[in-house]
Amino acid sequence: MRFLFPAQSYFRNKRVMVRVDFNVDSAHGKIIDDFRIQQTLPTIRAIQSQAKYVLLISHRGSFEKPCDDTLTLRPVARHLARLLRRTVFFFDGPLGSFGLLNTRIPKHAVVLLENIRHYRGERENSKQLAQQLAQHADCFINDAFGESHRKEASLVAITKLLPSFAGPLVQNEIAHLEALKANPAQPFVVILGGVKLKTKLPLIKDFVKSAKYILVGGGVANTLLQAQGLRIGNSVCDTEFMEQAKKLLRCQKIVMPIDWVIADAKKQKVIKTIATYVPNGYAIYDIGPKTRKLYASYIHKARTIFWNGTMGYIEKRMFGRGTQAVQQAVLLNKMARTVVGGGDTTPFLRKGNPKSKIQNPKLFISTGGGAMLAYVAGKKLPGIEALKNNKTAKQK
Ligand code: 3PG
Repeated sequence: MRFLFPAQSYFRNKRVMVRVDFNVDSAHGKIIDDFRIQQTLPTIRAIQSQAKYVLLISHRGSFEKPCDDTLTLRPVARHLARLLRRTVFFFDGPLGSFGLLNTRIPKHAVVLLENIRHYRGERENSKQLAQQLAQHADCFINDAFGESHRKEASLVAITKLLPSFAGPLVQNEIAHLEALKANPAQPFVVILGGVKLKTKLPLIKDFVKSAKYILVGGGVANTLLQAQGLRIGNSVCDTEFMEQAKKLLRCQKIVMPIDWVIADAKKQKVIKTIATYVPNGYAIYDIGPKTRKLYASYIHKARTIFWNGTMGYIEKRMFGRGTQAVQQAVLLNKMARTVVGGGDTTPFLRKGNPKSKIQNPKLFISTGGGAMLAYVAGKKLPGIEALKNNKTAKQK
C-alpha cells in the first residue's frame, strides 16, 4: 500500500503536518488520562528528529455538540512538552499568520495548533480550510485513528492537497483490528456493554458471524432483557430498538445476565441483587454476582476477546463491580489475543491497574471510540479511505 508511513529520511527538512487525536479529558488544566497522547509519542519523535518542524493538529470536544470555543488544547501542549521533554510551541492565531511563528521557531520544533474545530470549515470538510493548512506543510500524516470516522478538513480535504500517509498509530490500529476480524482463534468471546443497544447493533450483527459467545451488559443487556419480556422498571433502555432486540434473542450465541444489581432509581441507595423483574421506581445498575462468575468463566476459556462497553453505571463505585470482574478476567487470560476499546472501557481498564499488570503483549488497547466500533463493524472510515485515494502519495 502506497500510503504507508514513509522511511524517516523522507521527512528530512520537511514541514510535516500530523493529524492526531488529542481529544482527552482534563480537570483544572490537568490531563486526566493521557493514553492517546502517549500513543502518538513514537510518531512525533520519529518525524521531529528529521523535519523542519512538526505541526500537530487535533480537535477537542464532541462532534455531536456545538463547538465549544473555550475548549482549548493549551493544557495538552503543556502535557505533551513534559512527555517529550522539549518545548511545544502553541499556536492559536489565524492560520494566515502562522508564517510569522514559522520564522521564529528553531529547526525540528514541535508546534501544536489550537483546537482545529475553532477554525471555520473543519467539520464541513472545507477545501478552503484545507488550503490554508496545506500552505504550512509539505506532507501530511494521519495518526488520528480515533477521529478517522469523521469527514473533516484536516483529515479528508487535506489529502487532496498534500502527499499523505498513515501514521504508525493508525497502521497499528488497523493491523490489530484486521487480525481480530480475519481469523479469530476460537473460542472468540465478545463482551459488549455501555448505554445504547443502537450503537452496538452493527457490531453484534457482524460478530454473530465470527464469535462463539457474545456477553452483554449495561443498557445493551437491559434492552434485550425487556425484549425477553422481563419488566425492567426504570432501567436505561432503547425502546425504539425492541423489534431488533427480539430478533437478536433468537441467536444462541448471545449470553444474557442471569442476575442484576438494582437500586432506587432516584436516590440510587437501596441496593439489592435480584434475578427477577425490577419493580417500578427501581433500575438495573450493574450485572449481579452470578453473572460476574458466569461471564468470567467464558472469558477464561477464550482464545480471542473483544471488549467494548461497561457492564454497569461505573460513575458510581458501588455499580462498578461487574465491569471490574470482566476487567480482571480479561487481564488474567494471557493466552487470548485481546482487543479492548471505547471511551469508558479503556480508562477503566488502565485506571484500576498498575502499568505492570497490563503489560501483556497479546492485549491491544485501541485509542478509538466511535472510529473503532465503525471499523470493526465493517464500515469504511473516511479518514482512511482518503489516504487510499490520495493521488499525491501514489506518485511518491
Ligand atoms: C473520540 O473521542 O472518540 C474521538 O476524538 C472522536 O471525537 P468526536 O466524536 O468529537 O469526533
